[in-house]
Amino acid sequence: MRHFLEFKDLTRADYQYLFKRTAILKARFKSYVRHMPLQDRTLVMIFEKASTRTRLSFEAGMHQLGGAAIYLNTRDTQLGRGEPVEDAAQVISRMCDLVMIRTFDQEIIQRFAAHSRVPVINGLTNEYHPCQILADIFTLIEHRGSIEGRTIAWIGDSNNVCNTWLQAAELLDFQVHVSTPPGYEVEPERAGLHSTGHFTEFKDPMQAVAGADLVTTDVWTSMGFEAENEVRRKAFENWCVDADMLKAAKPEALFMHCLPAHRGEEVSAEVIDGPQSVVWDEAENRLHAQKALMEFLLLGELADDQ
Ligand code: CP
Ligand code: NVA
Repeated sequence: MRHFLEFKDLTRADYQYLFKRTAILKARFKSYVRHMPLQDRTLVMIFEKASTRTRLSFEAGMHQLGGAAIYLNTRDTQLGRGEPVEDAAQVISRMCDLVMIRTFDQEIIQRFAAHSRVPVINGLTNEYHPCQILADIFTLIEHRGSIEGRTIAWIGDSNNVCNTWLQAAELLDFQVHVSTPPGYEVEPERAGLHSTGHFTEFKDPMQAVAGADLVTTDVWTSMGFEAENEVRRKAFENWCVDADMLKAAKPEALFMHCLPAHRGEEVSAEVIDGPQSVVWDEAENRLHAQKALMEFLLLGELADDQ
């Protein structure tokens, strides 16, 4: 049994399979070909934070694969009234085939997985967002071919999405240029990095984007950190990806944002709504990439015609 709690839980070979499989499942979806290998399988989704894309892509994805998805949140379940996560894991995993959790500390999902009889997928924690980077790298491959040897510029907060890019860089061999305001730098241990050989930190965001194949950013304040909103708004004001910044990257550079976005804060409207932005493909690819992931965790690798 395999869990997907952080990006490095899968191998380079697993990702090669998943990117190829995602393209196959996307093509089937686009041509209305029924593909229901997960009939009679049930996904339980547990949300301790808000979501649009993650909930929709997992729920629609499971439905399209022939299975069912059940949405649980902290407010309406005993999890919100202090039932131990270990007990919840025992009970929930006896009634379903797959669990996806969006929560706060990574430790919570690790404890759940340690007591689960079925695979557990991280749908975002304070530390990581592996499903997002799975879809983002697939999107880059779709538009530009291989990711190996490329340079990704991360501008803004060194948050869960940034940490996951950094783990992916080590595994899939590309470089990440990170520029954060002082005091918000990458914490390599929290990011779960083995070495620092695949990322470089820059004080000046304009230097970080120089020569980049992809410029990407995220909200200045992630879910769970709302109390820091005002302080962060001031600290991050020079870390907005605007047209001048994007111009400093390669001319063919793409722009990505996991969404939801705040135009005028971490990105200008001109950039996110401009010709180099692939944010809608990126959001759509959550569906296709996670279908490949769910199929892989439950059935293993399948032949192209399966
Ligand atoms: N990008 C992402 O995970 O979006 P949601 O918060 O809407 O799920
Ligand atoms: N870093 C953001 C991502 C939202 C999808 C957050 O954790 O709120």
